[in-house]
Amino acid sequence: MTQGTVSAMATLSDDEVAAVSSPGVGPHPQPWPDDPRYDRTLLADGDRRNVADVYRYWTVEAIVADLDTRRAPLHVAIQNWEHDFNIGSIVRTANAFNVAGVHIVGRRRWNRRGAMVTDRYLHVHHHPDAAALLAWLAEHGVTPVGVDNIPGSVPLETQALPERCCLVFGSEGPGLTGELAAGCERVVAISQHGSTRSLNAGAAAAIAMYHWSLQWPPANRGQVPFPFTRSG
Ligand SMILES: C[S@@+](CC[C@H](N)C(=O)[O-])C[C@H]1O[C@@H](n2cnc3c(N)ncnc32)[C@H](O)[C@@H]1O
Repeated sequence: MTQGTVSAMATLSDDEVAAVSSPGVGPHPQPWPDDPRYDRTLLADGDRRNVADVYRYWTVEAIVADLDTRRAPLHVAIQNWEHDFNIGSIVRTANAFNVAGVHIVGRRRWNRRGAMVTDRYLHVHHHPDAAALLAWLAEHGVTPVGVDNIPGSVPLETQALPERCCLVFGSEGPGLTGELAAGCERVVAISQHGSTRSLNAGAAAAIAMYHWSLQWPPANRGQVPFPFTRSG
């Protein structure tokens, strides 16, 4: 990438980055739909946002309200050290799985690059430290499950995960802190077979969310988990 490209990207807003990454649709042909969920500015100018086709031209508020009717009972939490660029990627994946909540632990400011403004459609909570996150989860009946390849972790592939579950990720570099790992009901590790010590947190989070969603597809929720036959 040339230096000119880097500086041009640095001046783009989150909306502009999202727009250049999604072809979108142009102005809506007349007659316009008579429905309050539609945004008249988007109908007039076109919708370049990174949204599923069903939500084209909808207001952000209408999209969030629709997503709220069918959130997964899954939460994800991320320790926010060093403005980890993975947080944006995790937020985008959390939106794709329509999780109930995203929890940022530590600094309030986080690196939004990579989220592609998907955080607008999610409920994002901030917690100053591990104790505050764990207290919030206990109060809301959500089981914290740590995700890291640290001593004492068990292979994710063998685990039936709780339905009301919060997958807790560490940040690039330090990983999950001892305090937060100790507060989790268990810590699961994605088995690796190569030479690298770890996956990046964004990739690990996508795998873990997918693993939960295989066990708790919408049709299974509130019933019995997808049967697991392996022990571990
Ligand atoms: C780069 S890793 C952190 C350090 C890692 N524990 C190490 O020793 O290198 C960043 C985060 O990605 C996630 N992660 C990376 N690889 C993983 C794996 N194999 N299993 C589970 N989580 C993983 C964890 O949440 C971890 O805290």
